[in-house]
Amino acid sequence: MKKAVLISLIALGMSACGDNSQNTTEPQAKPKSMLADQAQQTANATSEEVIVGRVKEVQLNDPLDPEMVARGKAIYEMKCAACHKLTDQRVVGPGFKGVTERRSPIWIMNMIVDPDAMLEKDPVAQELLKECLVRMPNQNLTEADARDVLEFMFFNDGKPVAEK
Ligand code: HEC
Repeated sequence: MKKAVLISLIALGMSACGDNSQNTTEPQAKPKSMLADQAQQTANATSEEVIVGRVKEVQLNDPLDPEMVARGKAIYEMKCAACHKLTDQRVVGPGFKGVTERRSPIWIMNMIVDPDAMLEKDPVAQELLKECLVRMPNQNLTEADARDVLEFMFFNDGKPVAEK
């Protein structure tokens, strides 16, 4: 494979990752119960997770905050939609469907606000880069912006929203 392809931003216009849903970083389908356990843990299970990046703690809402979801959606449309679909289809980067199940909230937050640190040190992020051949850019979101996008990702994955 030619190195030049790796750094070519022209890849932005092409399907750098294809839409190969059988990619190696996707976890094998797990029984529902395991997924539930995992979701329970992610909120406060930083003990096992090596945190790379500047976000060390994330407070989750259950049910979701509708205003955060709305703000997150607007940010997504402006700054992420060019590379990430809301389905599981890959474009430049992986589709966001299921992202809150395959990654922890802290991992997602750091991938958004501190992608360079993640790509330098986090093995999962590095594996994604190998597949996608494009670096996830730092979009200069504040932590509050990123938190809104995370809320929107949970919404996209079907988590219930509080009534206004
Ligand atoms: C220029 C294209 C591009 C833009 C714009 C972009 N990303 Fe990415 N993103 C990628 C690529 C490529 C990857 C996978 C390779 C990597 O990590 O470098 C990725 C990976 C991710 C991941 C990990 C996905 C997974 O399945 O684990 C998350 C989360 C993410 N991006 C969030 C965002 C958010 C939120 C925004 C908008 C604020 C955004 N990205 C904007 C290209 C982009």
